[in-house]
Amino acid sequence: MAAPIPPGGYVSDSPLTTPAEATLRADVVVFAPRFEHIDAAAQAAGSFEGKIVIDTSNPYNPERNGFLDLGDQTVAQFVSARLPSARYVRGFNTIPTETLLPELAGRSGPDRAVLLLSGDDSAAKAIAAGLVRDAGLEPVDLGTRADSGSQDPGGDYYGKEIHLADVPSLPRL
Ligand SMILES: NC(=O)c1ccc[n+]([C@@H]2O[C@H](COP(=O)([O-])OP(=O)(O)OC[C@H]3O[C@@H](n4cnc5c(N)ncnc54)[C@H](OP(=O)(O)O)[C@@H]3O)[C@@H](O)[C@H]2O)c1
Repeated sequence: MAAPIPPGGYVSDSPLTTPAEATLRADVVVFAPRFEHIDAAAQAAGSFEGKIVIDTSNPYNPERNGFLDLGDQTVAQFVSARLPSARYVRGFNTIPTETLLPELAGRSGPDRAVLLLSGDDSAAKAIAAGLVRDAGLEPVDLGTRADSGSQDPGGDYYGKEIHLADVPSLPRL
């Protein structure tokens, strides 16, 4: 029988000891370090070869009072370049966790909340979309990594509750 979810923790029937062990056992990894820890977290996670990696990170500066300048790259382009073996998907980054699941998840009808996913690997996005749906949100495809700027800080969809009516031209996943 699976162990209960520890407060704020993960679901597992055996304790995970290190990020690398967790990655090894996973089909899908949620990659959620603070931006200044991306390289260290990627290194700690070991090999992402064949793993679907959902990146939630946002480029706050270390002082948390502004954002880093990534030039003309989207966050997805910047982070995925540091995770070259991953099947990269970007999502879960636009709304604070304490709002996303308690307030937005599980709705139906026109109030159903959209969660945007982007990335160049369509099959990986489709699997991530299943997890989004399981979480009670509606997955919508924002496009490739290059297309994903509107989910980044300063973008049209960042920090906003979105419904299907707001994104009629974007494909559902
Ligand atoms: N919180 C939100 O509502 C929210 C919403 C959207 C997007 N985001 C973005 O998601 C990312 C995470 O946010 P957060 O609020 O969850 O931050 P957080 O509470 O500081 O969590 C960061 C996590 O990264 C881990 N970590 C740090 N260095 C590591 C390393 N070298 N190797 C492995 N793991 C490492 C930390 O592990 P330890 O605890 O063991 O140090 C911690 O679990 C940020 O980029 C943030 O901008 C957050």
